[in-house]
Amino acid sequence: MTRLGVGFIGSGFNARFHMQGWVGVRDADILGVWSPDDQGVKSAAAYCRSLKVGECKPYGSIAQMVADPSIDALWLCGPNHARIENVEEIVDTIKRGKGELKGIACEKPLARNVAEAKRVKQLVDSVGLKTGYLENQLFAPHVEAGKKLIWARGAATTGRPYLARAAEEHSGPHMPWFWMGQLQGGGVLNDMMCHSALVVRHLLTRPGEPLSSVKPVHVTGRIASLKWTRPAYVKKLQKMMGAQVDYSKAPSEDFASLTIEFETADGHTVIGEASTSWSFVGAGLRLSAELLGPEYSMKWNSLDSGLQLFFSREVTGRAGEDLVEKQNAEQGVMPVVPQEHAAYGYTDEDRHFVNVFLGREQPLLTFDDGLEVVKMLMTAYQSAESGKTLVFPPKGLDTFKPKVARGTWKP
Ligand SMILES: NC(=O)c1ccc[n+]([C@@H]2O[C@H](COP(=O)([O-])OP(=O)(O)OC[C@H]3O[C@@H](n4cnc5c(N)ncnc54)[C@H](O)[C@@H]3O)[C@@H](O)[C@H]2O)c1
Repeated sequence: MTRLGVGFIGSGFNARFHMQGWVGVRDADILGVWSPDDQGVKSAAAYCRSLKVGECKPYGSIAQMVADPSIDALWLCGPNHARIENVEEIVDTIKRGKGELKGIACEKPLARNVAEAKRVKQLVDSVGLKTGYLENQLFAPHVEAGKKLIWARGAATTGRPYLARAAEEHSGPHMPWFWMGQLQGGGVLNDMMCHSALVVRHLLTRPGEPLSSVKPVHVTGRIASLKWTRPAYVKKLQKMMGAQVDYSKAPSEDFASLTIEFETADGHTVIGEASTSWSFVGAGLRLSAELLGPEYSMKWNSLDSGLQLFFSREVTGRAGEDLVEKQNAEQGVMPVVPQEHAAYGYTDEDRHFVNVFLGREQPLLTFDDGLEVVKMLMTAYQSAESGKTLVFPPKGLDTFKPKVARGTWKP
């Protein structure tokens, strides 16, 4: 097999990022898309065709995409609360002998809690599908280059790194379901710590070795509502997202921090520190990472993009996200992140998983890694709720559901 036909589940914000990134992917075409939003599906299919990333057409269901022999793999980019039903439909179609796939790639988080993530994994394992866990930040060119050089030069001559830091911060998600703990599975910890928690572990892992060589042993999590439960912002949020998002009754955390103590296969204790926020008001989305060792350090900040524009107060126009994702201003000195799909890692991520499903590369991340991330996040919630540092994995992890996800959290 030399070319992969790909179908997308979900036609929203994230699916479109992958579609943009696909311009740098060879040997694979986006041929189909399905979501319950008919208009969204049509426009996403047209968008793919306009990008020349495949003769993409709308499908009437997931089952129809699986049944089409031209579709070899699915990219799962629906909302978190639809993960299980989406995977059930894929697996059911295969089990009924109505279609075949080479693989399935799933966006973060693999699921909303450990029980759901195990169910997703068990479903795909039951039909023997290859899996890919989509964590774009591990493929971000700055992270890739930084990790490679730090390990090749600094660590090789002076010893392994001992501290990694990562953060993802912006002013809040674009759709109501992200804000609703019961749908999304939590707040910013569930939504964005999945990136940062894995980035720190990845940076601390020797290139070529598995993530399991850097084993989490202690986890300390903290969550807080710093901004969006202030009365003025409760009202503002409801105005932006609709009546169902009521942070006076069912808030989610808008800030989370996490410290993970790891034991390494070569006998060291190393630390990962991660922090995520929906209450950061800067130019736009800010991704950052650091890696420190005995004689070296690395620092990445996506807003130090190398391109800045200045617009005087005479320059007016509509609000947009044409400079940077989650942009907060259109005047003054503004950073621009050109080709965000490449900068955030989508292009290299998608190229990798296409090669995996074509049988040319071993997967860097599978659903096993997605499950491990969910375990880490749930431990962080458990720690935040108890106010204690926990030994990983803690008791009761498999059935744990955060208070935020149950709608009972009182910040
Ligand atoms: N890697 C990243 O940085 C990143 C960024 C954003 C989102 N995500 C993840 O991608 C996924 C999608 O997020 P998004 O930002 O595109 O959200 P979105 O709300 O913009 O889009 C969701 C899409 O799913 C569709 N949908 C609704 N119900 C569905 C169902 N039952 N089955 C399948 N599809 C359904 C919607 O019609 C829409 O097309 C989420 O899991 C999210 O966590 C990842």
